[in-house]
Amino acid sequence: MTLQIKSLEQYQEAYKNSVENPEGFWAEQAETFTWFEKWHTVLHHDFVTPDVRWFEGGKLNITVNCLDRHIATKGDQTAIIWEANEAFEPSKRYTYKQLLAEVNKCANTLKAQGVKKGDRICFYMPMIPEVAIAMLACARIGAIHSVVFAGFSANALADRIKDAECKMVICSDYNRRGPKNIPVKDVVDEAISMGCASVEKVLVYKTTGGKVNWNSNIDIWWHETVDTMSDQCEPEVMDAEDMLFILYTSGSTGKPKGVVHTCGGYMVYTCYSFKNVFQYQDGDIYWCTADVGWITGHSYILYGPLLAGATTMMFEGVPGHPDAGRFWHVCEKHRVNQFYTAPTAIRALMAAGWHEPEKYDLSYLKVIGSVGEPINEEAWHWYDEKVGRGHAPIVDTWWQTETGGILITPLPGITDTKPCFASYPLPGVQPVLLDANGVELEGNNVEGLLCVKFPWPSILRTTYGDHERCRTNYFAAFKNYYFTGDGAKRDEDGRYRIIGRVDDVINVSGHRIGTAEVEDAIDQHSGVVESAVVGYPHDIKGQGIYAYVKPHHEVVDAEHFRREILAVVTKHIGPIAKPDKIQIVTQLPKTRSGKIMRRILRKIAEGQTDQLGDTSTLLNPECVEELKAGALE
Ligand code: WTA
Repeated sequence: MTLQIKSLEQYQEAYKNSVENPEGFWAEQAETFTWFEKWHTVLHHDFVTPDVRWFEGGKLNITVNCLDRHIATKGDQTAIIWEANEAFEPSKRYTYKQLLAEVNKCANTLKAQGVKKGDRICFYMPMIPEVAIAMLACARIGAIHSVVFAGFSANALADRIKDAECKMVICSDYNRRGPKNIPVKDVVDEAISMGCASVEKVLVYKTTGGKVNWNSNIDIWWHETVDTMSDQCEPEVMDAEDMLFILYTSGSTGKPKGVVHTCGGYMVYTCYSFKNVFQYQDGDIYWCTADVGWITGHSYILYGPLLAGATTMMFEGVPGHPDAGRFWHVCEKHRVNQFYTAPTAIRALMAAGWHEPEKYDLSYLKVIGSVGEPINEEAWHWYDEKVGRGHAPIVDTWWQTETGGILITPLPGITDTKPCFASYPLPGVQPVLLDANGVELEGNNVEGLLCVKFPWPSILRTTYGDHERCRTNYFAAFKNYYFTGDGAKRDEDGRYRIIGRVDDVINVSGHRIGTAEVEDAIDQHSGVVESAVVGYPHDIKGQGIYAYVKPHHEVVDAEHFRREILAVVTKHIGPIAKPDKIQIVTQLPKTRSGKIMRRILRKIAEGQTDQLGDTSTLLNPECVEELKAGALE
């Protein structure tokens, strides 16, 4: 059995052991899984190249560990509960046995369509059980899934399909989200028409059955194929270091990059972290509200819980539909024991109904989690009091797409909680704070750049098709450290508080958005010379997007121009990247070497116009007054 820490002493002991003997520590965890063949080397690592390999020589299939392994003891236990978009619709349940059968049928479909080990499959799906089934089906046959959040535009989808040269796209006809019914197959068609030559087939799951365009050369209905397949499928034998999936995420420069996770290490770490952070016990009902298009959905709706043999819930809808009580209603209805959501949802629900949770029976909750962005103090206390109610502590979990799993978090009932603190590293994780020169800050009460100095099993291995980018992004800033891009503080007791990104990534409603990506999109507008995008504090979203746009000619109708900018961003990235504020300017502040001085733009966006610092070194210091005068509240 995977280690499940039960006391503070055990945590301290495990932590010490994991630092003194990391290989022994992780080998012990890995041994609890089913391997076709055991590894010969626990860890090989070099953070310079970088080159990290865990459990080399080991052969496995993650779906055997998610599904087959549980059949003997938990075959009839519910693996997935699905809660529909509409509250009045019945929920669906899949037992472990049923889920395995469905996964095998889908895996056989993929095979019948010519999908082979190593092929990349792109997903553009709503939150329905079939997304989980198809992801596991890929893993069953060694195909690599690349899930794209279904809120991204056709352009963004096409970029990701091309980068990974996906052979197939799996989507639905329509995607229901709250009151909306979005024709997603149309988005896929449009993306494919943008030169996605690698795509041979599109597998379409019928949700609402609305009208779709059909190209019988490439389109296949799920119900016409999957349902006719055998429910037996031999798992592909995978090396521990074979790729399991690609997930695109934004960085500070250029286009989103495909973070690569591999089979063995990811399996060991997601199961281990799930069991410890949520203190999952057999029979519990666990619910993570994330979308499977993000890493949280991969690690803590799908893989972590299924590896641990848990009952995991998937929710198709959105927090405010039909009203601000939906989450609490679902918790009551299914007697949810562990609930995991994002600060942006907490803030929105808090604003929509301060007393709303009081109407529901939340007494089954044992742990409530937060992830994706810093949680502010007010939201933390509201969540603690109205939802946790003294019996369910908050786990403020810090991690990233690149880390694969939770690295810093309180352990519920074991370590204490402190508002806004992600607290302590899990055993096996060695965080450090560095100063700007790369010197480790010793002791407590310090603030610096958050890095990790030793690998854990689910650290990213590369960025797809571009290893150099992985090196420069994460391993080049400070030699022999993994650099997270976050700043953090360590308090007097050694707890970590994450402050936020120190690079040009903004975190909008828990979604990572690169300022360069938004600028590239805005610059596609023919009337724009250049633009600069920064984040600013936003009550609900955490951070909002503030864009400074320099047009070619004087803008006559500013509102019309702003609408066009929003449209161009929606077209190139998706609605999640739309700027909240657009300031039209005649100049952007530049350094003498021609670089945009973002510090000034950030301060103006934050409303701190009296803290601009020295602006005399600018090439065009005269622009500052104009920028200040035009600043948007
Ligand atoms: C931020 C999401 C504060 C952080 C799992 C990180 C957090 C980025 C927290 C990764 C937290 C995530 N407190 N900030 N508990 N969790 N972040 O890749 O800036 O979508 O670098 O992964 O979210 O976002 P990603």
